[in-house]
Amino acid sequence: MIENRKDLLGLYDLSAEEIQYILKSAETMKYVLLQKNKKTPHLQGKSVVTLFYENSTRTRLSFELAAKYMSASAANISASSSSVAKGETLIDTGRTIDRMGTDVIVIRHHASGAPHLLAKHVKSSVINAGDGMNEHPTQALLDMFTMQEKKGDLKNLTVAITGDIFHSRVARSNIYGLTKMGATVRVFAPATLLPKGIESLGVTVCRTIEEALLDADVVMGLRMQLERQKQGFVPNMREYAAQFGIDERRLALAKPDALIMHPGPVNRGVEFSSFVIDHDNSCIDEQVTNGVAVRMAILYIFAHRGQDVKLPESPQRKENVR
Ligand code: CP
Repeated sequence: MIENRKDLLGLYDLSAEEIQYILKSAETMKYVLLQKNKKTPHLQGKSVVTLFYENSTRTRLSFELAAKYMSASAANISASSSSVAKGETLIDTGRTIDRMGTDVIVIRHHASGAPHLLAKHVKSSVINAGDGMNEHPTQALLDMFTMQEKKGDLKNLTVAITGDIFHSRVARSNIYGLTKMGATVRVFAPATLLPKGIESLGVTVCRTIEEALLDADVVMGLRMQLERQKQGFVPNMREYAAQFGIDERRLALAKPDALIMHPGPVNRGVEFSSFVIDHDNSCIDEQVTNGVAVRMAILYIFAHRGQDVKLPESPQRKENVR
């Protein structure tokens, strides 16, 4: 149960019980999502605004669809086409949205901590849809939901996270979430893309990509975040792919039934080869579908501030475990 929590700012703040509650609620939402008629009254009379200062396809669209499937009024603001471009501050923009009767503001911002600042100045619930290099909690929740759906208990899993960990808010949120849920997390990145002291977060730092992948249950690749790399962190993309990318030969080190995951968008042929992206064990497309279910659950829970959120059991649960 999530009681008296106004905002979802990161998985650093959530307990294992709160994470499990969201994942459980998402099971019901996935069931709803797979019906021919996806419209539910869960958020009737509520309003959701997505406020994006950075580009997005998956996160923004899945929040908007999630809100609309549950009958909320949903609207989007992009920084580039709003009064932000005229110099309005984040707090003033937030207050403006707040005073229109908004229940939930979903924000993506290039600055780490921007959702936390906004949350202090608005009555609406604030959901972090990615802040700088800090956290992307809803991505990690959909990743954990996908792992749990496919593999069962997260506690028994070894998850290898590889790629540009330094710039990755997805890596940070997954590390916070997965370690709280009892999973074993290994990380591998080229030395220039590995944050100093990351082992203090409870992960095993591997010296080679082969060591990270060996007998892993889940192989999670991260995008090279070229937009955040002002200097050359790696010589070039071709060399990066050859030295650190995952191809057929490296994938064979993981368990034969290892899940292949990537938050997207993928740099095809860089962090993963096409063989890996299009492999039968690839869950990349399913992560996108699960993103809608998880965001439906999050909107429902936070729009109601953790109150009155008794969701029916989903009859789908066991059938989806493979
Ligand atoms: N994974 C993710 O955050 O994708 P978008 O940037 O397309 O939202």
